[in-house]
Amino acid sequence: MVRLVALIISIVLQVIAAVIAVKFVRLTKYRLSWILLSLAFVFMAVRKLIQLSEFLRGTPSYIWQMIDEWMGVLISFMIIVGVILIREIFYSLKKAEADRLKTERRVLSAIINTEENEKKRFAKDLHDGLGPLLSTVKMALSALNGKINDPAGIEILQNTNHVVNEAINTIKEVSNNLSPHVLENFGLSSAIGAFAAKVNQIKALEVDFRSNMEGIRLEADKEVIVYRAVCELINNSLVHSGASKIDIELNKHDRFVTLQYSDNGRGFDTSILGTEDCTGMGLSNIETRVKSIDGIFFIESNRGKGTSALIKIID
Ligand SMILES: Nc1ncnc2c1ncn2[C@@H]1O[C@H](COP(=O)(O)OP(=O)(O)OP(=O)(O)O)[C@@H](O)[C@H]1O
Ligand SMILES: [Mg+2]
Repeated sequence: MVRLVALIISIVLQVIAAVIAVKFVRLTKYRLSWILLSLAFVFMAVRKLIQLSEFLRGTPSYIWQMIDEWMGVLISFMIIVGVILIREIFYSLKKAEADRLKTERRVLSAIINTEENEKKRFAKDLHDGLGPLLSTVKMALSALNGKINDPAGIEILQNTNHVVNEAINTIKEVSNNLSPHVLENFGLSSAIGAFAAKVNQIKALEVDFRSNMEGIRLEADKEVIVYRAVCELINNSLVHSGASKIDIELNKHDRFVTLQYSDNGRGFDTSILGTEDCTGMGLSNIETRVKSIDGIFFIESNRGKGTSALIKIID
């Protein structure tokens, strides 16, 4: 009686397992591994049915016993081959994930390139469109020099001259921020050097920049991404850290380029990054952009101990 109950329970369980496995066959796109495992479950259920019928008949038949034994061999074989082939499913999952990441990066990179191209176009329009107009106004104003005798008129002329000069400089600066010409013409090391020199002029803090990359060029998108990252890191140090010193090192190694950044400011709790407590976009933008060129970005900071960051990209 106990054997009968055990046989019935195992038949029910194996039929359920077989039904589930057969459903998986469709989900796994009819992969051989899963078909074999499903068949193994089906045969297990059949085997138990044979055992049940033998048990109910009371007189075991030699033929059915042989069929039962050989089914056991077949099931073991199917399970072994199925398990070996199941690796294929994991490989294909891994490949699908890698493809997804690759596509994600390609889309990111396309967005970033479009953004940079738009900035470049805008910078050019500003520089080439407004620049000459203001220069013409400046020339017209110079032509008025000496032709106005009224002291109030002379003062107005001087003020206007001053405002036009300011406007010309602002346009140059805005267009240079949008598309830094030093970066385009002389590369990453010179552009970071120029930016650091500009920050040093403000005398709010001291930026020490070192590099072994003078004259070495990288692909344009890599240069732009690292340059913008450094600008954001410096900007963060200026705005948030109260630091008196920033150290930046840009180095080319055999197959990659590293940028090490540190400030001696107040530091912050990096666990806020990516949470609702952090509304800023700067650091997450760096991460996204660096990822789009297959690079890595780390930031480390502790309250009272400054902030340091590392960007590593493949050359
Ligand atoms: N060098 C730093 N020293 C101290 N705190 C920093 C530093 N860099 C970042 N932080 C902290 O991390 C937060 C996130 O920086 P993130 O650059 O992402 O945003 P943000 O600077 O606040 O805004 P956004 O960059 O979008 O203008 C900052 O608000 C600041 O609290
Ligand atoms: Mg910021």
